[in-house]
Amino acid sequence: MLIAVMRIFRKGNIAAVFVLGAICMIIYFCQYRPDLTNHNFSSRTLSDAFHDDNQSETVIKPYTHEFFVPKCEANMLVADMKDFSSLPDTIKNFLYYRHCRTFPLLLDLLDKCGGDNGSKEVFLLLVIKSSPLNYDRREVLRKTWARERLHNGVWIRRIFILGTSGSGYEKKKLNKLLEAEQEDFNDILQWDFDDTFHNLTLKQMLFYGWMERNCPNARFLLNSDDDVFAHTDNMIEYLQHLPDNDGSKHLFTGYLFLNEKVVRWKESKYFIPVQVQESNTYLPYCGGGGYLLSSYTALVIYKMSQSIPIHPIDDAYMGMCLAKAGLSPSSHIGVKTLGLNMPSKGADHLQPCYLRDLLLVHRFLPADLYLMWKEVHNPHLKCNP
Ligand SMILES: *[C@@H]1O[C@H](CO)[C@@H](O)[C@H](O)[C@H]1NC(C)=O
Ligand SMILES: *[C@@H]1O[C@H](CO)[C@@H](O)[C@H](O)[C@H]1NC(C)=O
Ligand SMILES: *[C@@H]1O[C@H](CO)[C@@H](O)[C@H](O)[C@H]1NC(C)=O
Ligand SMILES: *[C@@H]1O[C@H](CO)[C@@H](O)[C@H](O)[C@H]1NC(C)=O
Repeated sequence: MLIAVMRIFRKGNIAAVFVLGAICMIIYFCQYRPDLTNHNFSSRTLSDAFHDDNQSETVIKPYTHEFFVPKCEANMLVADMKDFSSLPDTIKNFLYYRHCRTFPLLLDLLDKCGGDNGSKEVFLLLVIKSSPLNYDRREVLRKTWARERLHNGVWIRRIFILGTSGSGYEKKKLNKLLEAEQEDFNDILQWDFDDTFHNLTLKQMLFYGWMERNCPNARFLLNSDDDVFAHTDNMIEYLQHLPDNDGSKHLFTGYLFLNEKVVRWKESKYFIPVQVQESNTYLPYCGGGGYLLSSYTALVIYKMSQSIPIHPIDDAYMGMCLAKAGLSPSSHIGVKTLGLNMPSKGADHLQPCYLRDLLLVHRFLPADLYLMWKEVHNPHLKCNP
């Protein structure tokens, strides 16, 4: 066929060029059509891919046809806002892509919760924000507080939520590693967006969207970072003792911030300019290191989020969503997400006796976490009353 095509070209016949074009188009369509039928791309998935405003993401794994997922384009109009050029690059970047809420799902978890109905068997779903490079943290969590297990007669399940890191070859390589990890542990949800600090809210909302479809009846969730010590046994006991412990009532508890000031200092990681938020204080929220919530509240937050523009500080954004629904976050004395509230500073938080009675403490190195989890569960551990 190639020879025939070359002959036609030599003759310089215009009609022949059209024929060639037609052949190319036929080849093109023949290549894609089988995927549409065999891989069962539902019309809903396709239309979602073209409607950014709809909240569900498009599954391209294991179908791998990025062809169907248009990239969310930067909104260049934001550059017209007052003093845009004086903003740090991270904030500019945030503003350009703030409207993007739909991203392809690269790694999905089928049946993590046993389907819609089965998901009520999950008592505590651990939803842990991680990023591609944090392999060592995930490894330790799987062996310690995030181990999937039956505790006090109820199920604990684990999901890490991630975006992507790097670009080009580096990104591909990291994604391959995650794929391998997924094969071994089946605990990763990954979407195709840059896993940056300012995209954490996006990550959280993509998760709630996934949860609404795949795990709506899990009773409670722990939302946490991958560098915390979460005493999940204590959490179960706390949740089981609630008057309503089926997850159908409002619960949102952790380390509570009231009237927290918005950081206006440009060099800070938490810097928020007036172009993103005018008011100088945040609505009440729980620190993002870790908080517990009911599935009822998670789904309310997700619903509210659909009409609230994304704010880059993810935990503060939860507060905004709660306020919109007329709900309040509450304080739990067992959650220490700031290093500051330790009985005394320094290595004291490495005391198993101190950790034994808490729900969550922020910031541990993987090795310390591993050690502490063992110590806390040591039956011979002696503590002063
Ligand atoms: C396609 O999906 C529908 C609904 O999810 C299902 O009933 C059907 O069996 C699927 N077909 C194939 C070929 O997988
Ligand atoms: C989003 O999708 C849902 C169900 O798939 C549909 O009911 C709703 O109208 C859609 N919203 C928009 C804005 O397209
Ligand atoms: C789902 O749960 C409802 C109520 O608990 C039950 O009636 C129904 O049979 C369940 N469906 C499946 C497929 O398990
Ligand atoms: C969030 O992710 C999108 C998609 O990868 C990217 O275009 C955008 O720059 C990211 N935003 C920030 C603030 O990093």
